[in-house]
Amino acid sequence: MKDLRKAPIGVFDSGVGGLTVAREIMRQLPDENIVYFGDTARLPYGSKSKESIIRFSRQIIRFLKTRNVKAIVIACNTATAQALETVRQEFDTPIIGVIEPGARAALHETKNKKIGVVGTEGTICSQMYTRVIHEMEPGAEVLGKACPLFVPLVEEGFTRHHITEEVIDIYLKEMKESEVDTMILGCTHYPLLRSAIMQYMGEGVRIVNPAYEAAMDLKKLLKERNMSNENEEFNKYEFYVSDAAEKFKQFANSVLPYNVETIRQINIEEF
Ligand code: DGL
Repeated sequence: MKDLRKAPIGVFDSGVGGLTVAREIMRQLPDENIVYFGDTARLPYGSKSKESIIRFSRQIIRFLKTRNVKAIVIACNTATAQALETVRQEFDTPIIGVIEPGARAALHETKNKKIGVVGTEGTICSQMYTRVIHEMEPGAEVLGKACPLFVPLVEEGFTRHHITEEVIDIYLKEMKESEVDTMILGCTHYPLLRSAIMQYMGEGVRIVNPAYEAAMDLKKLLKERNMSNENEEFNKYEFYVSDAAEKFKQFANSVLPYNVETIRQINIEEF
């Protein structure tokens, strides 16, 4: 049998946001190599149809398989909500999403079982977080809210801008006035607004970032399948995008704790 231990982990997202998940994998699994793909040509996924997201996800998984990945993390909440179930049945590579880990972490944190979820339109309308939370805890109450302007605000670097504070107030007022004691940041970009959201929601609300829990799920999966890379002397991280490599590089260097030098652009439609 082929030794998969040295093979990389494939991580993908619609763009740069998934770097918050890649960053967590780098922290929690420092010996693993990563191949990251950001679908910058077709971002945003949050407003696209399920059919399109499934097609995009299939193409990206086919590409990642050409890089011989041993497991794949769908870092994008929208792609997890719309495509994970389908692609898991179609590919033999193990695939992890971010919704189940996020739901589990929220249930671990909540005291009153009232959980808020913020995400893209695609994620919130799919009701996937609600479904997964109810499978784990049928008595839980879930309040979802789509916050489509958060993604462009983060992309523009407006994480500490007064406009962002106003948008947070518009989207999250109802959630703040509700009884939720735990809120899931159900979109890759939102951890970059974490401090602004935390400040707005106040101390009584715990904020959950699914990225940490997803990295722990990956760790468990690799261990169970005897695929962990334990003796790597230096890690190799590769980054691919479908467009705008230079912009991606700047963003990557502001999010990741080391210097990213090379970003390769590929034509994802070929896969
Ligand atoms: N990556 C997406 C998510 O986590 C957000 C950006 C997009 O809409 O493509 O849902």
